[in-house]
Amino acid sequence: MTVLFQNIKQLLQIRTEAERWVAGQQMHQLPLLEEAFLLVENGLISAFGPTRDCPPPKPDWEIIDASGRIILPSWVDSHTHLVYAGHREQEFVDRINGLSYQEIAERGGGILNSARQLQLVSEEDLYEQSRQRLEQVMRMGTGAIEIKSGYGLSIEAELKMLRVIRRLKENHPVAIKATFLGAHAVPKEHHDDRSAYLDILIDQALPRIAAEGLADYIDIFCEEGYFSVEDTERLLSAGARFGLLPKIHVNQFNAIGGVAAGVKHGALSVDHLEVLRPADIKALQNSSTMPVALPACSFFLGIPYTPARSLLDAGLPIALASDYNPGSSPTGNMNFVVATACIKMKLSPEAAINAATLNGAYAMGLESEVGSITVGKRANLILSSPLPSYAYWPYAFAENHIGQVYINGQLIE
Ligand code: NIG
Ligand code: FE
Repeated sequence: MTVLFQNIKQLLQIRTEAERWVAGQQMHQLPLLEEAFLLVENGLISAFGPTRDCPPPKPDWEIIDASGRIILPSWVDSHTHLVYAGHREQEFVDRINGLSYQEIAERGGGILNSARQLQLVSEEDLYEQSRQRLEQVMRMGTGAIEIKSGYGLSIEAELKMLRVIRRLKENHPVAIKATFLGAHAVPKEHHDDRSAYLDILIDQALPRIAAEGLADYIDIFCEEGYFSVEDTERLLSAGARFGLLPKIHVNQFNAIGGVAAGVKHGALSVDHLEVLRPADIKALQNSSTMPVALPACSFFLGIPYTPARSLLDAGLPIALASDYNPGSSPTGNMNFVVATACIKMKLSPEAAINAATLNGAYAMGLESEVGSITVGKRANLILSSPLPSYAYWPYAFAENHIGQVYINGQLIE
């Protein structure tokens, strides 16, 4: 099947070569075409260019008039916890009334609250709740998404989460990667012996996950009160034996050396980074690790934003993701993430779009498949509503700018 988008007002993020990422001040450049066409064949981008070079349409092509509209590659959300059970709005109210996120966690709320809820639901129910969230973010323009386990905190419940992710992958056209986050929090029964819990994850969970091919990546919450740098190194070494690259939670509340540990173990990404020391920036330089910022989490918890400009000034790249989860970011809306990055982190619209497309694709190992308008990549596209310019997208931050979403060239209804 062939689809031709004609008269596109602006075609954003065009790359003739599949680039791995954009970094430093280059992030403020977003290659685009004014007045363009885009041709999609069998779900892949097959050609694009200025309108004057548009091929004459054939009778069996579907023709879409994009006059006044912008087309860009769909959002790539490289960090989510979209599979979860229930919600935690009572903790939200408790925070409004003065408790901190950490205080709530210390009282058995937070991740442990979600784990209790998740252990009780059936796999079928968990799938159904998660499917609705996934389909909602697809309609909001997400065309590739990473999803973590980590609310199971027992072997069976973690496997349940990973099987749900696999089923989401089988039943949806979006690109999905699965990450094993068994080390998200220390379950109550191992409260006094973290290393016994890590033993279970390493000796029992990992072999089963690898045997069933249930995960692409491994993650750990490296943070005071959760897991230490030593724990992190131990788990990442074990993950490597099963072929799982790290994508880890670091520097959310405290900088304890997780960034350097991640880089040392060849992490694909280090995520959060709200608290960033010069030593962490240094560790990232000349590495192949993508720093990932999660501004919706900063917004929701009222914690600092990742210092994006410091990363760019150091010549580093940055990716943006939603962190969609019930405790610290109950939204997977990447439009909001991009706008918040512009408003609060002072990313230019160009840098924010690069961070939420091409760099996000690198952070989930999909840079050759999604994240830019490049011949041969998947036709995962957002067609905007009529817009004056692409900067209007984050500027009118609370408006919906999505016209249509296409995944593998197919319209998402
Ligand atoms: O990325 N920081 C760790 N994990 C999640 C939040 C978990 C939760 O509160 O449920 C995050 O913010
Ligand atoms: Fe997270």
